[in-house]
Amino acid sequence: MKVAIIGAGFVGATTAQRIVERNLADVVLYDIVEGLPQGKALDMMESAPIWGFESSVSGTNDPEDLAGADIAVITSGIVRQPGMSRDDLLERNAAIVASVADHLLEHAPQAIIIVVTNPVDVLTHLTAAKVGTPKERILGMGGILDSGRFRYFLATELGVAQADVDAMVLGGHGDDMVPLPRFATVNGVSIEALLPKERIQKLVERTRSGGAEIVGYLKKGSAYYAPSAAVAQMVESIVRDQKRLLPCSAWCSGQYGITGQFVGVPVVLGRRGVEKIVELPLNADEMRELQTSSARVAARVARLRIGG
Ligand code: LAC
Repeated sequence: MKVAIIGAGFVGATTAQRIVERNLADVVLYDIVEGLPQGKALDMMESAPIWGFESSVSGTNDPEDLAGADIAVITSGIVRQPGMSRDDLLERNAAIVASVADHLLEHAPQAIIIVVTNPVDVLTHLTAAKVGTPKERILGMGGILDSGRFRYFLATELGVAQADVDAMVLGGHGDDMVPLPRFATVNGVSIEALLPKERIQKLVERTRSGGAEIVGYLKKGSAYYAPSAAVAQMVESIVRDQKRLLPCSAWCSGQYGITGQFVGVPVVLGRRGVEKIVELPLNADEMRELQTSSARVAARVARLRIGG
């Protein structure tokens, strides 16, 4: 399998590293900055004999090298600075992602596309409109990252193993994302049986501002370890046809009352891409939050005047 990663910044390069270190696929790391993808790829390959992996990574500035990719991961764009929301990135990143979409249409039209650039739900829509890929073969990364943060906060608060905590965060990857405490568990035990409501609410709020918390520390950039882990998990589920149930930004056609839009929902992810969108029995409040979040994504899509 060949994975093309577009954008050799922190998220792109760290994703490449995670993919090759797990021997998931060979990676082509593409960037417009000369030398950057080549240097990072060579450095990574020189770690292969030491760290021990068989997959290869190469760097390029030539869009023709995207040809034959089974999966394309779009990470290019400007990053958040302190005080910026993900939506502040909208217009500048839309132009960048549109040109990447043109390259994919020309050189790798068959690839399953994972969009990472923010605001991710809107830019997934833009990419889908430009590339014309069947909608089950394009998705955005957001919910796994947000769920990872929620799970980490819960595990730490409860003093239990990270691996035992499961949670889903749905909705747009933005400040109005929808963490679902009712569906969060510690090895099958509802967190609502283990933590008081106010504590849970605090962790929900920390999850919502989890991206900004990291930007606040880093100042000149945003998170990349957890985002790249989330992307690598999506790539793994596709490459190994694992059919994992993961929250991803996927094209809804009526699910949750949302039609004609990308938003974070639980999907079964396999070799063919989004094999199924799973509809959880949300209560009225959860449904309202999800639809509000989705309406905000729709408003931004409208701002960019993207077609369907
Ligand atoms: C975050 C940015 C990448 O959530 O959206 O960290």
